[in-house]
Amino acid sequence: MSKTPLRVAITGAAGNVGYAALFRIAAGEMFGVDQPVILQMIEIPAEAAQKALKGVAMELEDCAFPLLAGMVLTDDPNIGLKDANWCLLVGSKPRGPGMERADLLKDNGRIFIGQGRAIDAVAADDACIFVVGNPCNTNCMIAAAQARRHPRERFTAMVRLDQNRAHSILAAKAGAAVADVNDLYIYGNHSPTMFADYTHATIGGKPAADVIGDRAWLENEFLPTVGGRGGAIVAARGQSSAGSAANAIVDHVRDLITPGKVHSMAVPAEGRYGFAEGVWAGMPVRSTGGGAYEVVETFVMDDFAKGRLAKTNEELVAERDTVKELIG
Ligand code: NAD
Ligand code: LMR
Repeated sequence: MSKTPLRVAITGAAGNVGYAALFRIAAGEMFGVDQPVILQMIEIPAEAAQKALKGVAMELEDCAFPLLAGMVLTDDPNIGLKDANWCLLVGSKPRGPGMERADLLKDNGRIFIGQGRAIDAVAADDACIFVVGNPCNTNCMIAAAQARRHPRERFTAMVRLDQNRAHSILAAKAGAAVADVNDLYIYGNHSPTMFADYTHATIGGKPAADVIGDRAWLENEFLPTVGGRGGAIVAARGQSSAGSAANAIVDHVRDLITPGKVHSMAVPAEGRYGFAEGVWAGMPVRSTGGGAYEVVETFVMDDFAKGRLAKTNEELVAERDTVKELIG
């Protein structure tokens, strides 16, 4: 007997990232090849956006995906998020060349109040809320501030693209396969201050720092390259990452529903790893099933790592302070 379809809501469904993600979700890459989905696609009311959304739906129809059990197209979050088991909050402005993600806070922050309220009002009781729109850590905090029914831990934000970037960069430097890199997790903000913790990473089972054998490269090239990769993509493409972002969205959700998987997500920090109360910070989590997880708190940081954690925490606290009036 086939499974009950999952309702997957996605905002910004006709945007670059939304477009790149939808086909992979409908193909079964996120929830598995036996899990039907109903895609609830939300766009802004502007005629052009609604027209583009219709075009996306037409293309999804043209794929004849066996797992696509229905589609909802709307400009109303209260319709699009209704009974949603997964709320993928992508819709918001991306940055252009020369901007930092935090520059988007003023324009994007408010979007997440309305959507947070709609989730509280109409989403399924078991909803998992996943924020991608930048600056995603702080937008996630804003959405979660509206939650009455759903626990804060159900709100997570994306640092998985950074984890994937870090894996590829470290593997290339070592001349190893990406699959040989393990225990490489992202801490803090999805911004250049993030800490891609190479100090606990391994390559082929050996400490990454020993395999690389060049601490200066790790500190002065690896970290800034991972932290600056989003900006480098914007500079190269003239617009921000889309295919790799959609891929990371799939990875985040798939690993979150796979018990035992350890991976990086931004979660309510609650003092862990020295992060301030109230901020959402990237850190390693172990999935425990059904979208639940526990934070892996056992990594012991050296003084260098502690300094990096303090720096990214400082930025998250500053963002939290900037949006104080939005979180009530
Ligand atoms: P885009 O401009 O191509 O698409 C955004 C879409 O969202 C547009 O179609 C727009 O109409 C829609 N939108 C805007 N406000 C909305 C709202 N209130 N409700 C519903 N839809 C809304 O941008 P994009 O390249 O798809 O990027 C989307 C967001 O994702 C940006 O904020 C970007 O910075 C972020 N992003 C985050 C990561 C990450 O790793 N966390 C990676 C890539 C992109
Ligand atoms: C990324 O990391 O590619 C995204 O957050 C987009 C951006 O603005 O960098």
